[in-house]
Amino acid sequence: MSKYEWIDHTYDVVVVGAGGSGLRAALGAAQAGLRTACVTKVFPTRSHTVAAQGGISASLGNMGEDDWRWHMYDTVKGSDWLGDQDAIEYLCRHAPDAVYELEHWGVPFSRTPEGKIYQRAFGGMTRNFGEGPVQRTCAAADRTGHAILHTLYGQAVKHQTEFFIEYFALDLIMDDDGACRGVTAWNLEDGKLHRFRAQTVILATGGYGRAYFSATSAHTCTGDGNAMVLRAGLPLQDMEFVQFHPTGIYGAGVLITEGVRGEGGYLTNSEGERFMERYAPSAKDLASRDVVSRSMTVEIREGRGVGPKGDHIYLHLDHLDPDVIHRRLPGISESARVFAGVDVTKEPIPVLPTVHYNMGGIPTNYHGEVLTKKNGDPDCVVPGLMAVGEAACVSVHGANRLGSNSLIDLVVFGRAAGLRAAEILESGARQPELPSGAGDNSIARLDKFRNAKGGTPTAQLRDRMQHAMQTNCAVFRTGEVLDEGVKKIAEVYAGLPDIAVSDRTMIWNSDLVETLEFDNLIAQAAVTVNGAANRTESRGAHAREDFPDRDDENWMKHTLAFFDTESGQVTLDERPVHTYTLSNDIKYIEPKARVY
Ligand code: FUM
Repeated sequence: MSKYEWIDHTYDVVVVGAGGSGLRAALGAAQAGLRTACVTKVFPTRSHTVAAQGGISASLGNMGEDDWRWHMYDTVKGSDWLGDQDAIEYLCRHAPDAVYELEHWGVPFSRTPEGKIYQRAFGGMTRNFGEGPVQRTCAAADRTGHAILHTLYGQAVKHQTEFFIEYFALDLIMDDDGACRGVTAWNLEDGKLHRFRAQTVILATGGYGRAYFSATSAHTCTGDGNAMVLRAGLPLQDMEFVQFHPTGIYGAGVLITEGVRGEGGYLTNSEGERFMERYAPSAKDLASRDVVSRSMTVEIREGRGVGPKGDHIYLHLDHLDPDVIHRRLPGISESARVFAGVDVTKEPIPVLPTVHYNMGGIPTNYHGEVLTKKNGDPDCVVPGLMAVGEAACVSVHGANRLGSNSLIDLVVFGRAAGLRAAEILESGARQPELPSGAGDNSIARLDKFRNAKGGTPTAQLRDRMQHAMQTNCAVFRTGEVLDEGVKKIAEVYAGLPDIAVSDRTMIWNSDLVETLEFDNLIAQAAVTVNGAANRTESRGAHAREDFPDRDDENWMKHTLAFFDTESGQVTLDERPVHTYTLSNDIKYIEPKARVY
């Protein structure tokens, strides 16, 4: 078909992405004797899990009584009743074992004086079904993700996972029956193209924070797996739910962990008032993130923001014992110094709600198997395809994720995917030949962009997309603003045929990488803003000023979004929320008003 030659590989399992969930899934598959490859755009220990700070939730009860059922209650409430309760039960019940497993593999958790894993308070985490705060978030100072990622990489290497590092995954290889047979990838170093045939592909490609202008996410967080799923004609779920972390450093977007508030830090406005007491009288600064981000935004809008422009808020930890700061929060002290010029022992940190996490993603069941809607069945498993981590929407986070439930999601569902692979796959089983023309779509896409001689630099289109998302799909939304966002994103998409790529080579072509990433991002921006315009209620992180109430009767359902790459059209559908649990140990948690 072309001047390109494919280098073909066959594995039992191919994991795309080497963050916490990808490494945990790869490790599980490899431990089960399955020949496992991990294809990753960046060196594994540079994956974005490395940036996770505050900790990983699990009801260990090291700092007071705790119970996985209380954790489940908090997670359901945090999700604003959009989470699937079977999956949430699975997450919270298996969380303690997943953390002990990490401990045994060598994660250097901080310790209590008795030598137990140290746990801190985090937003929305309570004891006895909402009674008061609990210390449930297991921490390695404020570098928990870093510690976990390095440990998992070591274990994955030890268990003979084969790594393909700095390979940019391009497309899923799907057969005519709708099964996934593998994945294509471009080796950035030598420019060669690879086809990985596998019994199962596991997507662990993270979120797409970079669809926005200001995000705590690394620049590599472009949701490449999500976009591959859309191009394969499969849906993404609940993409309208985008989390704004309350405390990104003003101007820089760099994360300051919620662990600061867990250790006693608090927010103030221009009047020096601890305003969270008005919005969340019980939980105050440790209300869930959507609540805190909205409260900060209201304070700024009503003229009580700080700084010369009155456009941000102060986060104080200057009242804390410097020894606590030194031991528990060394990383953010450095970030505050470097990015805000602040000595946290003396001055507050200027902060602003900043895009941080995507609750939406690739729909899966709690085994990590990807779901689509087929012949009326909303939970139809796509053979040969799994997804884990932020790329996936299991859905345990529903409309709003609780802080520290992300790291536990990575390892619990990474582990579940490995277990499922071990259960349904036979090591070395004969695989059908790849469908004829497998990978032609990837080559066509590469050629289209590599030879793009238009007049609009990719960076210009990306900038327009990022500003449109930041302005038109923000903390507060209205129909009018969202409709304008839909239009702006469609206009950016229509600009693709005029894109300009100057480098025509295949080796370390950063211009082409940036363009492929933009192409991935714009599809996700489109399904996000369309899903948000469609959902006429407020739930979790989706706060509609024109529809301020949660509407369970009409909207307690997941959004499914399909994308047509030819036309840029988004088609929306829906899927019921799972309102059942897996065991009799806990009953379905009925919806009620969500107050903190
Ligand atoms: O605030 C934080 O440390 C972030 C944690 C999370 O997103 O889970």
